[in-house]
Amino acid sequence: MSDNVKLIEVGPRDGLQNETTVLSIAQKVQFIDLLSKTGLKTIEAGSFVSPKWVPQMATSHEVFQSIVRTAGVTYSALTPNMKGLEQAITASVDEVAIFTAASETFCQKNINCSIEQSIERFIPLMALAKAHNLKVRGYVSCVMGCPYEGAISHKQVADTVKQLVNIGCYEISLGDTIGVGTAHNVKALIKGLTNEIDVSQLAVHFHDTYGQALANIYASLETGIRTVDASAAGLGGCPYAKGASGNVATEDVVYMLNGLGLNSGVDLNQLIDAGRYICQQLNRQNGSKVAIAHPTK
Ligand code: HMG
Ligand code: MG
Repeated sequence: MSDNVKLIEVGPRDGLQNETTVLSIAQKVQFIDLLSKTGLKTIEAGSFVSPKWVPQMATSHEVFQSIVRTAGVTYSALTPNMKGLEQAITASVDEVAIFTAASETFCQKNINCSIEQSIERFIPLMALAKAHNLKVRGYVSCVMGCPYEGAISHKQVADTVKQLVNIGCYEISLGDTIGVGTAHNVKALIKGLTNEIDVSQLAVHFHDTYGQALANIYASLETGIRTVDASAAGLGGCPYAKGASGNVATEDVVYMLNGLGLNSGVDLNQLIDAGRYICQQLNRQNGSKVAIAHPTK
């Protein structure tokens, strides 16, 4: 198994979408520019969703046009439909992500359609993305449980994951949206999925609501997963998943990977600086235990 782990920084999107403080374009740009200096190779810098649904992301177009793009860094965005993709293209995003769920109710609450309708909606989107040479990532939410339906079967997850692979997503991020998963269940899910899908096509996306995210990432790494989503300072949540706390803090993941002798290519000090910056702007406590423990310069 490779010693390299790819981190997908989702703080500017998953993090900021759920903060009550709506930041200015300049504050978001500064955050992303600081993240660009850390060695992170992919930064999810915003989303092209309805501003009525998620007002925090309303300035994503301006943000994409103002960031300083670092060579070798992919700046990606969420696009739930054609309108979102069209806007993302005019903002010159490098990559897009579509998102659905393994729970019908969550899918309705999050993107106002059934799972089946979401897949139908994505088919023309995939074609347009392909025409623009944009890689498309897929997210499946609620893989470990749903805030409305409770337990979600591995079969439901697998069915949705396969649909996204079949329509052309190069990678599927398994979202534990409300952070209810535990290590054995995570392993069982991934092992089942890898009977049909190569592990290199899977990523994990843990929210830390129940404090299980690092253990779940460790369990995922043991199954061969090498792509992990995380959010600087543990920002985040999901506006349509009540109680979902932040994503696992990227700083804490980097610290764990360093200890395991796995390479993320990320400079922990620079990352801590970026996380501290955004917490100051949001006037919130840092959600990274590593950042809290780390001596200030
Ligand atoms: P809808 O209301 O069904 O859309 O929303 P519609 O097509 O009927 O359009 C209604 C209005 O929205 C129209 O405007 C459209 O132009 C506009 P009006 O005529 O009323 O003025 N509209 C848009 N505006 C901007 N950008 C767009 C767009 N599309 C339509 N792309 C829709 C459907 C999907 C748009 C809506 O439900 C939505 O925006 N949902 C996004 C919710 C969201 O962002 N959730 C958080 C991200 S997912 C997540 O966090 C989970 C994840 O982290 C993984 C995990 O943790 O599990 C990825
Ligand atoms: Mg999320």
